[in-house]
Amino acid sequence: MQRVSNRRRFLELAAMGVATTVIAAACAPASVSSPTQAPAAAGSPAPTQPAAATATQAPSAAAPTPTSAPAPAAGATATPSGFGKFTAQPVTAPPGYTPATGKLEIFSWWTSGGEVEALNYLYGDFKALNPQCEIVNSAITGGTASGGNMKAVLQTRMMGGDPPESFQIHLGHELFDSYVVAGKMEPLDTLYADEGYDKVFPKMLIELASYQGKPYSVPCNIHRTNVLWYNTAMLKDIGAEPPTTWDELLAIAEKLKAKGVGALGLAESSPGPSAQLFESILMGHSFLGPAGYRGLFTGETSWSDPKITDALNLLAKLIPYFNPDYLSVSWGDINDLMINRKVAMMVMGDWTPGVLWSKGFNDFGWADPPDGKGIYAFTSDSFGLPKGVKNRQAAINWLKVCGSKHGQEGFNFYKGSIPARTDADMSQYTDYHKSANKLWTDPKTEIVGSIVHGVAAKPSFNVDFQTAINVFVTKKDVAAAREALLKAAKDAGFKT
Ligand code: GAL
Repeated sequence: MQRVSNRRRFLELAAMGVATTVIAAACAPASVSSPTQAPAAAGSPAPTQPAAATATQAPSAAAPTPTSAPAPAAGATATPSGFGKFTAQPVTAPPGYTPATGKLEIFSWWTSGGEVEALNYLYGDFKALNPQCEIVNSAITGGTASGGNMKAVLQTRMMGGDPPESFQIHLGHELFDSYVVAGKMEPLDTLYADEGYDKVFPKMLIELASYQGKPYSVPCNIHRTNVLWYNTAMLKDIGAEPPTTWDELLAIAEKLKAKGVGALGLAESSPGPSAQLFESILMGHSFLGPAGYRGLFTGETSWSDPKITDALNLLAKLIPYFNPDYLSVSWGDINDLMINRKVAMMVMGDWTPGVLWSKGFNDFGWADPPDGKGIYAFTSDSFGLPKGVKNRQAAINWLKVCGSKHGQEGFNFYKGSIPARTDADMSQYTDYHKSANKLWTDPKTEIVGSIVHGVAAKPSFNVDFQTAINVFVTKKDVAAAREALLKAAKDAGFKT
C-alpha cells in the first residue's frame, strides 16, 4: 500500500513508457542440470484488469520438498555470501498445481556474485515444485551495456522463432520496444488474475509491465541505480564523510589522489557505467533535477538545455579521479578494485552489495549520490512469456516462481534489490535493503526511471546515449558529446 503512495510519479513514469513506440532489439547458458549450447558473444500502458483470482501461497498436502541448492551458472564461481544465507520455509505448491516436465530454458545476464545466488534461489524453488523438469540456465555474461551479449543472442533466437521459455528484461521501454510492440510476447492478464498480482505489485510496476492495457511480464525486484558505494576504511583513513555534493567529492578526490588511489571507480571496458554516472549527475538537484530529467522523455525538457552541458563539464572534471585504467576495467573487476583499496567510491546500482557480499566483503557503506539526496533512480528486472515457446507449462510455472512471495524474498536477499511485491517479509534483510525500501516507500522520494537500465527510453536511444558518453570519457570533447546527445535525442523524437 505504501508503495502506491508514489502513484503520481508512477503515472508520470508510465506516461514515459508509452510516449514512444519505436521498436528496437533487446536481450544465455548453463544448466542447473546440464548446460546446453555455449553462448556466442555479441549485444500508456493502461492498468491491468482487476484480478478475480486468489493468491497461490496455500500449501498443499502433497507439496514437493525443495531440492538441494542448484549448481551455479556456467562461467560463474560459487562464492560464499559475506552476510550469510537466507533461511526459507520449504516452498509449497498451491492446490491444483500442475508440475511441468521436459525442459525450461531461461536467458539472463546474471553471472556475477549475488546475481548467481539470487537466480539459483529461484531455480531451487522451481525445481522443488517441478522435480521432473530440467532447467537450462542460459545465462550470458555482461558485454556492451547491461546484458548486451545476452540481448544479442536472445534477439537472434526470438527473430528466428526459437525463443527460450523466458528471459530477463527490464520493465518499461526495454520490454515494450524490444518485443511487445513487435508482437513477440504473450499477454499475461490471465496469469495476473490467477495470481492476484494487482493486489501485490505496486501500480506503477504493473503499468510499466503493461502495454495497451495488458501486462507482458512479471517483475521480481526493484533496483536503485544511483547509489554512492564507498570503502569505509578508505574514507576513514582520510577523515572524510561520504560526499553530499560534487564539490565535496572533488575535495576528497584530491586527498585520495595525493595518496595515489582513485576516488571514483569506473569500469568502462565497454559502454554503460559512464552513462549511468552521467544520468545520475543529470537528474541531480543542481542540474536538471528529477522533474527536468523526466521531462527529457515527455517533451517538457529540451535536450538543448544548458544544464546538460554543465553536467558534461562536471563529468570531465571527474575523469582525472577515476581509476587510471578505467577504459579497460570490466564491471566484474571494478568491485575487486574497491575491495583492494584501489578506488574509494563508485556510483552504481544496488546489485553492487550482492557482488561485494558474495566476495565476503562487508566493509563498505552507501549514501545518496552527490547532489542526489532523495532521488531514487530505478529499474525492475522482470520475466515474460515469448510466443511459441516449446514448453508453455514450464514457462508459466517459472513466471509463478518469479512472482511468488517465497521466490522474491530469497531472490532479493542475495541480489541487493528489494522485492517488487509489497507483502514480502524483509525481516532477514540487511540494513542496506531496509534503507532502500524506506526510501522507495517514502512519499517524498523522487522516483525516476533509469535510461541505461531500460526504463526511461527505448533501446535504440539507450545505445546511442551510452555510446555518446563512452566516447566522451575517452576523448573528453564536450562539444562533440553535446552534438552526439542532440542527434540521439532527435532520432528518438525527443525535444531538442
Ligand atoms: C542491471 C540489472 C541488474 C544487474 C545489473 C548488473 O541492468 O537490472 O539485475 O544484473 O544490470 O548486471
